[in-house]
Amino acid sequence: MKVEANKNIASIGGYAFDEIDKLKNELIEKGVDIIDFGVGDPTTSTPEFIREAAKKAIDKHKCSGYPPTLGMPAYIEAICKYTKKRFNVELNSKTQVVSNLGSKEAIFNFPLAFLNKGDVVLCPNPGYPPYERGTLFAGGTPYYMNLTEENDFYPDFDKIPGDILKKARIMWMNYPNNPTSQTATKEFYRKAVDFCHKHDIILASDEPYGEIYFEEPSMSLLEVSTEGVVVFNSFSKRSAMTGYRVGWAAGDERVISAFKKLKANVDSGTPYFIQEAAITALGDETHVEKMRDEYREKRDIFVDAFEKMGLEVNSPKATFYIWQKAKGMSGAEFAKKLLEECGMVVSPGEIFATTVDGVNPGKDYIRMALVPSIEKTKEAAERMGKLKL
Ligand SMILES: Cc1ncc(COP(=O)(O)O)c(C=O)c1O
Repeated sequence: MKVEANKNIASIGGYAFDEIDKLKNELIEKGVDIIDFGVGDPTTSTPEFIREAAKKAIDKHKCSGYPPTLGMPAYIEAICKYTKKRFNVELNSKTQVVSNLGSKEAIFNFPLAFLNKGDVVLCPNPGYPPYERGTLFAGGTPYYMNLTEENDFYPDFDKIPGDILKKARIMWMNYPNNPTSQTATKEFYRKAVDFCHKHDIILASDEPYGEIYFEEPSMSLLEVSTEGVVVFNSFSKRSAMTGYRVGWAAGDERVISAFKKLKANVDSGTPYFIQEAAITALGDETHVEKMRDEYREKRDIFVDAFEKMGLEVNSPKATFYIWQKAKGMSGAEFAKKLLEECGMVVSPGEIFATTVDGVNPGKDYIRMALVPSIEKTKEAAERMGKLKL
């Protein structure tokens, strides 16, 4: 019997991080003491009070039962309260918020609710892979908006051809940005909203790094508009809860309503006890401040180390990523050098970007995720200091 995957499965390579994992495991087998700045997964424990809340909630919900697919009322209310307090935006809990299993599945599935054959989705490039993959699996076509140093890592809307705009249904946006660490300004968000309103494009803003900032608190796109806008967020980075799989989408009720209809067919909701843990997490800011301080310290260690190596450094204002330009070599070559000579896993920038017309906007860069401990970060910076460039 023949088993054939569909053309989307067949046409994509492995998930970007599979390759990093493979390389890392090969080195571990060789006995190399590696320090891993590859995948953006916090290595700190989920704070104890959040874990305790989850444990208690397991007993509270003795009969596990299917949770409400679209979120427990108390969870949705907690999201509304947070959005009001943090961004001064009022959301209608009945119509403007939906619970997700973290953001990844929601981002991947979102285009299914809006695309028809031939429709286009505007994706930042480099960008989080599910923007592109979700588009392809929904039968759409991604159009890549390159984020480059020349345009301050913002998409250049004037470069999008008219025929693409006619077919565009969704524009993805992600600030604070993975991988470039760029943050959004109010002017930029205003311009993006006006542009999308003019062309009837849903503006989908993916904001999981919103609480990891080192200067001004990051803005949410919701502060500029909720019309035609949907924001995705999760607890993964804010509260080191990547394994809990809990998040939400909020915005224009027409967008949320269509997405809710889709979701009711896709998943059965985040478990009650996880939603309870998320409510508890949202009620505390102290652990978030502590996390910001730690990432800031690690950022400073590396910014200093790269400067001493004579590299041009853009000190990140937010996120736990450093998007570092290589010197005299490609990002892939720099990543290889760091791996072989310093035992450091970093990601070659090109894996976050798609090559269009022979140009890969990530090729000159490496991305470092500042997730190892402060001790390990110091050790890595020391190892880098001995590197001959
Ligand atoms: C830009 C971006 N969006 C979304 C996510 C998804 O996070 P989660 O599914 O854990 O909420 C990530 C995770 O690394 C990310 O980097």
